[in-house]
Amino acid sequence: RGKRAFIAGVADDNGYGWAIAKALAAAGAEILVGTWVPALNIFETSLRRGKFDESRKLPDGSLMDIVKVYPLDAVYDSPDDVPEDVKSNKRYAGSSNWTVKEVVESVKNDFGSIDILVHSLANGPEVTKPLLETSRRGYLAAISASSYSYVSLLQHFLPIMNPGGASISLTYIASERAIPGYGGGMSSAKAALESDTRVLAFEAGRKGKIRVNTISAGPLGSRAAKAIGFIEKMIEYSYVNAPLQKELLADEVGNTAAFLVSSLASAITGSTVYVDNGLNTMGIAI
Ligand code: NAI
Repeated sequence: RGKRAFIAGVADDNGYGWAIAKALAAAGAEILVGTWVPALNIFETSLRRGKFDESRKLPDGSLMDIVKVYPLDAVYDSPDDVPEDVKSNKRYAGSSNWTVKEVVESVKNDFGSIDILVHSLANGPEVTKPLLETSRRGYLAAISASSYSYVSLLQHFLPIMNPGGASISLTYIASERAIPGYGGGMSSAKAALESDTRVLAFEAGRKGKIRVNTISAGPLGSRAAKAIGFIEKMIEYSYVNAPLQKELLADEVGNTAAFLVSSLASAITGSTVYVDNGLNTMGIAI
């Protein structure tokens, strides 16, 4: 039987999550996605109306099939955690069972198990503010949406992940080098995510024979990145300074993800793997 993947953080066809879904589908995996509740309606409508058909095309000419779209808000673990104003918000009230625990229960009821878990989501409400001007609330929100969301997803999915399976997340080099402009505690959140990758690799390896890695990706003009405000500058900086002077394609990250969750990578766990045209290896800008 083919592998089954759950990809959290797909709401359009521009981001890394979509590219990873495609690479996994091209390799024969069955694709389930988790879509942020406020973005669910437009994503499902666009899918249904064929707006993504061009970008659903796989190398063999067939169209990627998303078997099921689950509404998800990864900052809430169970219904008890959801505040009243969110519960009654009309974008949320129209969907149900979107906390992490409930999504995993739904996947278990629908399919029994998964082999691959992908975390391709992040959110930092104060990302445009320097760390020196970031509020406690903004900082903790960045960590909650961008780091703990992964701990929670893996914690809940692990019991239904088949041994030999694998999980990956997406990180950014602002975790280890100062990148002015990546603020609001997002740099801190990525540092936590990378550290957690090592600890979770140990724990999930021992507990469930599951591998855990993270991809440190170069800049991509996704919806989330555009909200940060300086993505075009980062893409240009990378083009000028990286060893490989070419555009970084989301598919290159997708292909690496497909490798990392496949048996070709059966001895790789706890790693941060750079997919950035080599920019991370440079010491000075020229
Ligand atoms: P994207 O906009 O395609 O993906 C982010 C997704 O997170 C969106 O679909 C959004 O709806 C979802 N999301 C936000 N809050 C959520 C929540 N509470 N629950 C569930 N989903 C939620 O953008 P992109 O850039 O592809 O981001 C994917 C990952 O790649 C993120 O972890 C990001 O930090 C990382 N990354 C992006 C880089 C870039 O330059 N675009 C560079 C390095 C890493």
